[in-house]
Amino acid sequence: MGSQWTKDSAYRKAMKAGYRTRAAYKLLEIQKKSGIIRPDDNVVDIGAAPGSWLQVIRDLTGGRVIGVDLNPIVPIEGVTTITGDFTDPLVQERIREEIGGIANVLVSDAAPKLSGQKSYDQARAVGLGEDALAFACTILKPGGNLVIKSFQGELFVDLLAEVREHFYSVRGYRTKTSRKGSAEVYIVAKNFKGRCNDTEGSL
Ligand SMILES: C[S@@+](CC[C@H](N)C(=O)[O-])C[C@H]1O[C@@H](n2cnc3c(N)ncnc32)[C@H](O)[C@@H]1O
Repeated sequence: MGSQWTKDSAYRKAMKAGYRTRAAYKLLEIQKKSGIIRPDDNVVDIGAAPGSWLQVIRDLTGGRVIGVDLNPIVPIEGVTTITGDFTDPLVQERIREEIGGIANVLVSDAAPKLSGQKSYDQARAVGLGEDALAFACTILKPGGNLVIKSFQGELFVDLLAEVREHFYSVRGYRTKTSRKGSAEVYIVAKNFKGRCNDTEGSL
């Protein structure tokens, strides 16, 4: 951990509270503002490692909780973890099996490894957001909720518009925990209209 972390009050607060990273507070802020997770919801978290969102979700619901990441997640009691790429149809099948068919909520904090080249990184991040939306279309039950991490910029507006086609209530939300100067923004979508028209996995 570099010095920027040790000076960071959200990081210190997270460590004290037993969360794996400060990112826990981003989901807590979203939950406080939008109430996306209800007490019995079955929730899928994609891009979940190291697992601080999973810790928050586990506390919010008594339902099933599944976490998926390219990297292994150190076990959390009451949470099923899967190591793999959430865009892989076999991984998606496994998620479906574990969640029991459909989910009430899908959250994605998935982010690509950054290259430092702004427009390229933004395009990849928005692409991952589109993949998350496509997967949400196949796994969410009507009325379900979705959170997608994205980055502000030209392509973000297109992704927001795509999400609006499939949910009754959609807003962009910048958390206070996001770092100063970061373009990170979350799309918080509530009340899924129902399965998207086209075939699995593509919009
Ligand atoms: C910002 S971290 C997530 C932090 C997490 N929400 C937490 O609270 O601990 C982003 C994660 O997305 C994962 N990721 C990126 N692309 C992915 C993909 N296609 N499938 C699964 N995980 C992916 C990365 O491996 C990384 O661990």
